[in-house]
Amino acid sequence: MDPAVKSNASNGNGVARGTSNLVLILDYGSQYTHLITRRIRQLSVLSLCVSGTNSLDSIAKLNPSVVILSGGPHSVHSPGAPSFPDGFLEYAEENGVFVLGICYGMQLIVQKLGGVVDVGEKQEYGKMEIVVEGECGLYGAEAAGWHQVVWMSHGDEAVKLPEGFTVVARSLQGSVAAIENRSRRLYGLQYHPEVTHSPQGMETLRHFLLDVCGISADWKMQDVLEEEVKVIKGMVGPDEHVICALSGGVDSTVAATLVHKAIGDRLHCVFVDNGLLRYKERERVMSTFESELHLPVTCVDASEQFLNKLKGVKDPEMKRKIIGHEFICIFDEFAIELEKKLGKKPTFLVQGTLYPDVIESCPPPGSGMTHSHTIKSHHNVGGLPKDMKLKLIEPLKFLFKDEVRKLGRILNVPESFLKRHPFPGPGLAVRVLGDVTEGNALEILRQVDEIFIQSIKEAGLYDSIWQAFAVFLPVQSVGVQGDQRTHSHVVVLRAITSEDGMTADWYYFDHKFLIDVVRKICNNVRGVNRVCQDITSKPPATVEWE
Ligand code: XMP
Repeated sequence: MDPAVKSNASNGNGVARGTSNLVLILDYGSQYTHLITRRIRQLSVLSLCVSGTNSLDSIAKLNPSVVILSGGPHSVHSPGAPSFPDGFLEYAEENGVFVLGICYGMQLIVQKLGGVVDVGEKQEYGKMEIVVEGECGLYGAEAAGWHQVVWMSHGDEAVKLPEGFTVVARSLQGSVAAIENRSRRLYGLQYHPEVTHSPQGMETLRHFLLDVCGISADWKMQDVLEEEVKVIKGMVGPDEHVICALSGGVDSTVAATLVHKAIGDRLHCVFVDNGLLRYKERERVMSTFESELHLPVTCVDASEQFLNKLKGVKDPEMKRKIIGHEFICIFDEFAIELEKKLGKKPTFLVQGTLYPDVIESCPPPGSGMTHSHTIKSHHNVGGLPKDMKLKLIEPLKFLFKDEVRKLGRILNVPESFLKRHPFPGPGLAVRVLGDVTEGNALEILRQVDEIFIQSIKEAGLYDSIWQAFAVFLPVQSVGVQGDQRTHSHVVVLRAITSEDGMTADWYYFDHKFLIDVVRKICNNVRGVNRVCQDITSKPPATVEWE
């Protein structure tokens, strides 16, 4: 079982069933599913999200106390509509597991238990008002007559409930908004309590989980830390050695510090200069590791090796694959060197994979895709070769970025590391569109990026921005500089705010800031005559351009 789960789920193993305090989300493809997980963790309750089509066995193994069926883009009537496995509702009932269906999830419960789901007369999208009909579990005994605004997003609706269910809230248009069958511990919300457009949604989730289901809100980072240390100690034998590639970012730094706490000097860190780093990054990162973290790190300069392999390659996925492959070759070489020194082969590789990487790398349920149709090979998960000799330790793979920062604080990782903006593993390769080795694209990008980031720091904005960077476009535009026509490069500035990298908004700079930055870039960086700003949110765009 996964380490982060164990901490809570093991509390329930062998004790009463359904007392693990784990809230398991079964994902049916809603764009909001990961938000449910986050909201629940904000209540200090452990929540994990797995595909909604997982087998009953794998669900039961996690021993959840509550299962939430997410929303999704499907209609329960469409062919191949994803659903929970046969026997799931019976399993839940026999084991005292509470089930809450949200939107599509609620419609699944209704349909599977013999109710009727149909296309609603009036489809409901956006903010709607609902009213609580009477005394109920979902909203508490006092809630009758309570009006609240919620976020609806559905075409189908429950028109006839299965036996034993009552309607506990309706929209002002008369559609079913919430249902329950308290004796069978089954509940449903037609709207999305997890989004901020449902202002009372968080309170509804809190009330449901803590008051109705009796979950204890005691999931703490300190426990995660202790559990992870225990798990790593259990995984790595007393004379086994581990290597870790540090990038200088939050994730790998926290992961390495955590593993170091567990196994001490049997951890060997390496920092690879792949030729795709930012301005003076190698020097800066190495000196901070030494002076602030006191972690011994070997620096490998492999820039030529990487850039040679990337020559002429334009396809973004191909670039990522090549970079991933070269990294692994370097780790293997590093491992061989260590073997010579230690007389023993290292057996594990630490990776700072995060939960959004895991979630985003899984195909959406009901899409008919399997894991081989990886949406993104780019987030650590997909990029590793099958024949890799090292076994993986991914101690952060159930945590969101803000949770990793919390963990880092407990581990006394300096704030300068914890506050660094995320930087993609393939580095500037995904920020120079097309062939990264063409002309002096990398050099131009480094200079532009440095001016942008330093300006942000000087303006005191760095900590309010999730990520800021520049992108080099493989096009040239006409300009006029010093009375002469130029035909130079276009760069794009992108700065975003985000909670976890899964969704993002563009950051609003004031005009003066932008005017100054553009002037500095055009005056100082040879070869750039046009600067654009990317003002697209995610979705529909992604954070990176490739
Ligand atoms: P996207 O572009 O997918 O990015 O919206 C979400 C977050 O992930 C980072 N990112 C990467 N991280 N390898 C990484 O380790 C990658 O290939 C990669 N691509 C994107 C991105 O910077 C953002 O923080």
